[in-house]
Order: sequence, then structure tokens, then C-alpha cells
Amino acid sequence: MSLLFLLAPMLLWLMPLASTLGHSSPECISRKTIPYHKDNGHLFSKKGVWNYSTMLLREDLGLLLLGARDVIYALDLDNISNKNASVEWEVPTTKQTECKKKGKDGEIHCKNYIRILHTMNDGRMYVCGTNAFDPECDIMSYKDGRLTLEKKEEDGKGKCPFSPFQSYASIMVGDDLYSATSMNFLGSEPVVMRSSSVSIRTEFKSSWLNEPSFISMAQMPESENSKEGDDDKVYLFFNEIALEYDSYSKLMVPRVARVCKGDLGGQRTLQKRWTSFLKAMVDCPVLESRLPFTVQGTYLFCDPQEPLEGCLFYAVFTPQQADLSDLTAVCVYRVSDISALFSKGKYKNSLPVETSYMKWVMYSGEVPSPRPGACIDNEARKQGITQTLDLPDRTLQFIKDRPLMDQAVLPVGEGPLLVRRGAAFLRIIVNGVKAVDGQKYNVVFIGTESGTMVKAVQCDGKMFIIEEVELFPSREPVKVLKLSEVKGQLYAGSVSVAVQVPLATCGRSLSCVDCVLARDPYCAWDKTTSKCISHLNVQRKLIQSVTEGDASLCPASDTVKPVNESIWLRGNLRLPCPPPSNLAVVSWQMDSLPLPLSNHLQVSADSLLIFNASESHAGRYRCLSLERSQAGDYTTVVADYQVRLAPGEAGRPSPQARQDGLSLAGLQAALGIVAILLAALLCWNFYSGHLPLPCKRGSGEESGYGSTPPHAGLEGGKKHTGHGISATNGENVSLHTPRPLQHIADESEI
Ligand SMILES: *[C@@H]1O[C@H](CO)[C@@H](O)[C@H](O)[C@H]1NC(C)=O
Ligand SMILES: *[C@@H]1O[C@H](CO)[C@@H](O)[C@H](O)[C@H]1NC(C)=O
Ligand SMILES: *[C@@H]1O[C@H](CO)[C@@H](O)[C@H](O)[C@H]1NC(C)=O
Ligand SMILES: *[C@@H]1O[C@H](CO)[C@@H](O)[C@H](O)[C@H]1NC(C)=O
Ligand SMILES: *[C@@H]1O[C@H](CO)[C@@H](O)[C@H](O)[C@H]1NC(C)=O
Repeated sequence: MSLLFLLAPMLLWLMPLASTLGHSSPECISRKTIPYHKDNGHLFSKKGVWNYSTMLLREDLGLLLLGARDVIYALDLDNISNKNASVEWEVPTTKQTECKKKGKDGEIHCKNYIRILHTMNDGRMYVCGTNAFDPECDIMSYKDGRLTLEKKEEDGKGKCPFSPFQSYASIMVGDDLYSATSMNFLGSEPVVMRSSSVSIRTEFKSSWLNEPSFISMAQMPESENSKEGDDDKVYLFFNEIALEYDSYSKLMVPRVARVCKGDLGGQRTLQKRWTSFLKAMVDCPVLESRLPFTVQGTYLFCDPQEPLEGCLFYAVFTPQQADLSDLTAVCVYRVSDISALFSKGKYKNSLPVETSYMKWVMYSGEVPSPRPGACIDNEARKQGITQTLDLPDRTLQFIKDRPLMDQAVLPVGEGPLLVRRGAAFLRIIVNGVKAVDGQKYNVVFIGTESGTMVKAVQCDGKMFIIEEVELFPSREPVKVLKLSEVKGQLYAGSVSVAVQVPLATCGRSLSCVDCVLARDPYCAWDKTTSKCISHLNVQRKLIQSVTEGDASLCPASDTVKPVNESIWLRGNLRLPCPPPSNLAVVSWQMDSLPLPLSNHLQVSADSLLIFNASESHAGRYRCLSLERSQAGDYTTVVADYQVRLAPGEAGRPSPQARQDGLSLAGLQAALGIVAILLAALLCWNFYSGHLPLPCKRGSGEESGYGSTPPHAGLEGGKKHTGHGISATNGENVSLHTPRPLQHIADESEI
């Protein structure tokens, strides 16, 4: 009993401690860990209903549309525990039987998993489901408190996956659906398509899409104020098996692709196919990893007050399975960098090497005009080409054979914004917040594999993790994450529940120092009410310091009132002192002097233990917490005890509950075990290299997988690290990729 009581909190506490030791910067430790509690937010789940993985925000209706298995819900945006309406969309029995006949599981596969939920121009909604391996789409409306499906029975092939386990991504632009998924039962025919009056899709060729897993889509209105008369674009993130690297095993690479909205396909070549499908590798170089990390989720962030050129893609990455690390990363890309790479970069070209084998190298020959893969712009219009149907065959044939760019897209700062060891990052959302100082800060919300939400603020190109909150009652991966700025709420879904949590819970900070050290741009300390509050819509002067965490701005804190405790002679006593944050270092004072540690006084994670007390143990005990921020070190008193010796000896009935019956031998044994565990934990940490983990980007160093190409090539021949594109192409230095994976940099070398 006493052992457990001692060990459980101690071990929990040792983990962050052990990982603090090696760091100068605390960026990868979340300042607070908030365990699941039903009062953290609102929860929605229905018995027997699973897979809450599709969400659509309808702020105009005050609703959250939630697509699950065989059903769609309309929930109250203010409190998703309130269901306003629902509509069932089940698979007809005949179709179920058919599905089972094909060897599929009735309970798992032969159901209707809602995969697409978008708003159309007229306010109705477009919805598609897997429908027992026969994807179907329909139109849904919300009227007079009711959700209704129009039962259009539209073919969902190419829009929605067949299997609930196949990947998908989609976006609605006007009334045109852009979708990326698999066209067939087996999942072997990947497609990126636009369903509109003229449907356009990808060519079925492995150089276009090779065993892809689709992640996300976003649209960019790049025609706005474009000097080149450019078109709007739709971007797609996915992972696929790379064709361009020699490797014995399949190597997955993260990609970004884009198409132009005005694309109508070619006249003869590429008829009803994209003429503007271009793709490139997205690099998120994590130093420790040999293999490229794969993308799991992205978010297009545009500051509404800034020009569109400033838009950014935030993306989360995880290692490939073969790569047994537990690192996970955030990388940020400028849309303008991606756009420039597609409009100015070099293409990759395939050449046959040794009869049956194809090698992908940089294309250094002549590029036809109009530029292959470009949208129709002023340049093309000058040549009399006003639509893709007018494009010459030369341009079309070129892009049909070479949709891949030679260079990779590099993140802002050429490295990750955040690298952390722990639960894999799966989803990401970014919100720009104006702080009390009038500055805008980007706050990042990340959904993880273990069902937590990591909240971090970006300052001077660095991340500070404010907190990590457990979202769900069980540790399920976050499948979907949405943010409503209007409501100030975040919505997350997993296989068994959907939850809603506020963007900020300032009330968790009870002191000014804690409120300021949290560096949460949503929260500030109000001197008049002595509360940490959300500063939006508050006119009073409030205390906040997002960039530095300058807690010296706080008024002299109210001293913690001393608590009276008494102890028997030879008795034992526990004085609790929970550390206020994961970054705080707690220490004890006795009568204003550092605590003299002895057999009688032992400090644990969240308390001080006095045992076999003598007269000398009576006195004033204070627990201090020291937390460091960029602005300085701040010490606060967390707990204050006045301990008096009670007359008599231990063994008589205990005068209070705290004076629990811990035996001295038990305590010493417990502490001995803890000491051994701590030593073992530290050894393990050093051994497994956990301690020297960099949280910030490694300043310009080569990534591990860049300098050592994965699985030495079949040729095993030349290795080029610094990729010499400047030798052949001096036009855009910013497009350099310092870490190509290929072994041959240029086709002239073959
Ligand atoms: C949210 O809705 C649930 C279910 O109706 C209710 O029990 C709960 O009190 C509501 N919470 C708030 C804050 O309104
Ligand atoms: C949804 O239900 C809640 C209460 O159950 C109500 O306050 C809200 O107005 C409803 N929303 C709509 C759009 O009907
Ligand atoms: C749907 O939910 C069930 C139950 O939690 C889970 O076992 C299954 O893997 C989920 N299916 C998908 C496609 O997410
Ligand atoms: C603690 O004891 C002192 C002296 O006996 C007394 O003045 C004080 O009020 C007590 N404090 C509390 C909180 O009971
Ligand atoms: C407790 O302390 C006293 C003297 O301070 C010592 O004589 C005694 O042996 C100790 N008891 C135990 C169980 O260690």
C-alpha cells in the first residue's frame, strides 16, 4: 500500500525530470500535462456507433456535422453533447449480402462509412460514404431542425474510397468536388479527380501516382492580384512509394502535388486528364532519421490581414515504420516556395539503364513552351492559348511523362519547427491570435496518436509547448480535428467519441506567475479580479508576456497561508507540494534555510516525508518552485507548513488523516527502490539517447538520410551530397535542395 502510494506519483514525475536534465531549452516538454477529465470539454458518443472521423463546421447554422458509420449527426456547435438532428444512411440488405459474398466482413467492411462532407454553394451539403464497397454520394440538407438525404444514389467511384481502410482526401471548390482516392475494389487504381461538368483526372501511370496514401487537400486563390495572370490552384499532400530512388525495399516519400482549377484536359494527348498535375517531394529533415519522414496531416494557414503570398502549410510528420524511432515533427512550408518550385524548377526524367531498369534523374534538355504543367497564364495567352485544350502536344507529352519535379520543397528555415519524442503527431491546426502586446502569434494545435492535443505557441521561429491535454476517455488516435474561431472551440474525433474543448482554459492558472509563464497568447492575468482570463474582448490593462514569460510583471503575490500540522514524537508525516508545471524545479526550506536532508527527511516528487520525528523536526516548512523563462528565474511559494510536535508518541491513534501509518522500514525500502529506479531510468535515458534530444532545428546540418542514402543503391556507385543544380541552373538559388536522395545528379553523368 504505502509503496504504491509513494511510487506511482514519483515515477510519473521522474519521466519529465529525466528528460529535462539534458536540455538547455525546454521546448519539447509540454509545460503542463492535463489528464482527461469530463469537465475539460463536451463529449458526444452514441452506443453502438463508431468511427467519428468526418466533420464539417457549419458556423452559419450553428452546427457541427459529424459523419460516423451508417449515420450523420448535426450537433450543437456550442455544446456537442446536444444532438439537434441525425440521419441514418445504412447499406441495404441486398448490398450487404453482395458485400459479404465478396469475402468481406459484414460488421467491419459492409457498412457505410461517411468519408465526404462538404458545403455546396446553395448551402446544401454533399456527402459520400463507402456503402459496403460500392461508394455512393448524396445531397443532404438541414431544415426545420431536421437532416434529410435526397436519396440521389450518385456514383461515388473516384470520390469516396471503397474500403473504410483506404486513404482519401477531398475538397469542394464552388460545386466542384476535388477528390483523391482509389477507383476500384482492390484499391489498386489511385486517382486524383475533379467531378464537374468536365470531369478531369490523373493518368493511370505509376510515374503519376505510385501506391499513394492521400492525406489532405487545400485550395489557393492564386489568381488574385497575380501579375502573371495565374490560375487558382488545388494542392494535395500524400505519401507514395518513390520511383526515383534505388532501394531494395519500398521507400515511402511525402509529396505535394497541385492542379490548376481552370484545367480542362488536353485535346488529343491527355484528353480528360490533368495537364497541370505536378508533384514534388516535401522534405522535413529530422537529423536522427535515415529515412524520410512521412506526412500525416497538414493545415493551410493564411493570415486574413496579410497578402496571400504569406500563406503557409503547416505539416506534421512521423517516421516510416522501418525506422524505429519515436520522433515526430512539425515542418512549415511557404506556399510561394512550392509554387515557385513548380513554375521554375527542373523536372525529373526517366532513362532506361541496363535494359529493364529505369533511372530518374534531373532533366537538362530543352523544355517546350508553354511550360509543361503550368496553368494558363498571360504568357500562354500571348501565344493564343486561352485554355488547356489549346496546349500543343509537345507540352502535353512532356508533362505526361514527367510530372515529378527534380527538387524537393524545403521547409521554412530548412529544418523542422518542432521535433519531439513521444506520441506521433497526426493532425494539425493553426490559429493566429492577437496578444495583449498587439502582436500576432501563431498557436498550433496538434492531435496525436495517443489521443492528446498538444498546444504550442510559435515565437521567433521556435515553439513553446503550453500544454498537452488528454482529449478522450480512452487513448485513441485523433482522426479528425477542426477549429471554430467564431466559437473559440476545438472539435476532435476518434473511433469511439467526438469531443469539444475550448481553445484556451485560462482558469487552470491560479496565480499570476503561472498565468504569465504559460505564455498562452489567449490568456492574461487580471489584477482587479486576481484571475487568469481570456483577454479577447477585455478592455482593462492585463498582464501577459508571450515572447519572454516575464513574470516580474506580476504584482507581489499573496503569500500562501501557512497550514498547521502536528506530528507525534517518532511519528511520520507527509507534506504535499504538487509541482505547478513540468518545467518547475521544486525545493524545500525549513525555517528559511535549505532543508537538511537526512534519514528523517526525504523529498519525493510531490511531497516531503518526515519520519521517526524528534523535537528538532518541529518548525516552518516551505515548498518553493523555481521556473525559468527567457526573462529570468521565478520562485514562488507553493506550500507552507507550520509543524508542531504533538505531545505523546506515535503508536497512539493518529490525530489526523495525513499522519498515515507508514512504517519507517516500509518508507526506507520504498525510497531505496525509488533511488534504484531513478538510476536505472537515467542509465536507460543516456543509453537510448533520449537526453541529448534537440528540440530546435539542427542549424543547417545534413539530415541523416541525406548524407547516407537509404539502402545503398543497386549500382552502389557515385554519391552526391551537395546537389549541383547551381552548376547547370543558376536561376533560382532558393530552390536548392541540399540533400537529394538520388545518386546521380544529372543525366549528363550517365
Ligand atoms: C451540454 O449538454 C449536455 C447534454 O444536454 C448537458 O448535460 C450539459 O450540462 C451541457 N453543458 C453546458 C455547459 O451547457
Ligand atoms: C440545437 O439544440 C440546442 C439545444 O438543444 C439549441 O439551443 C440550438 O438552437 C439548436 N440549434 C439549431 C441550429 O437548431
Ligand atoms: C471503426 O471503429 C472500430 C471500433 O472502434 C475500429 O475497430 C475500426 O478500426 C474503425 N474503422 C476504421 C476504418 O477506422
Ligand atoms: C495555526 O496555529 C496558530 C497558533 O496556534 C494560530 O494562531 C493560527 O490561527 C493557526 N492557523 C490555522 C490556519 O489554523
Ligand atoms: C528513531 O530515532 C531514535 C532517535 O532519534 C532512534 O533511537 C530510533 O532507533 C529510531 N527508530 C527507528 C525505527 O529507526
